[in-house]
Amino acid sequence: MLKRFSISLEEDLLADFDQVILDKNYKNRSEAIRDLIRNSFVENEWADDKDVMGVITLVFDHHQPNLQEKITELQHGLFHQIVSTTHVHMDHHNCMEVIIVKGKACDVGRLFDGLNSLRGVRNCRLAMSSTGEHLH
Ligand code: NI
Repeated sequence: MLKRFSISLEEDLLADFDQVILDKNYKNRSEAIRDLIRNSFVENEWADDKDVMGVITLVFDHHQPNLQEKITELQHGLFHQIVSTTHVHMDHHNCMEVIIVKGKACDVGRLFDGLNSLRGVRNCRLAMSSTGEHLH
């Protein structure tokens, strides 16, 4: 059931917000505000070490000695936190691994930090998302 409420905003702030709504192709202010609220809930889930889901994307040098083994070893060490891993051979030198993760935010963070700090890893990104359980 939808509830209506009114919001008071400074004129300039509202003008900037309406520009963001246009740029991001939202149909109306309500949908944009719903997304902002949900994003803040997801940020809190991570900050409060709740059960979360996310995606780690890793670009690394295929020729770095033992790197693939270290990446695999780290994932085996935290296998409860891993839903699936996809490996892509991007070119002669570079590989990408996309790892879907779930679990307590601190355990997922530990996996990310472990991967990110390996020598030969050229880019490591964590997209923080949610189990969806507490999002409406
Ligand atoms: Ni590869």
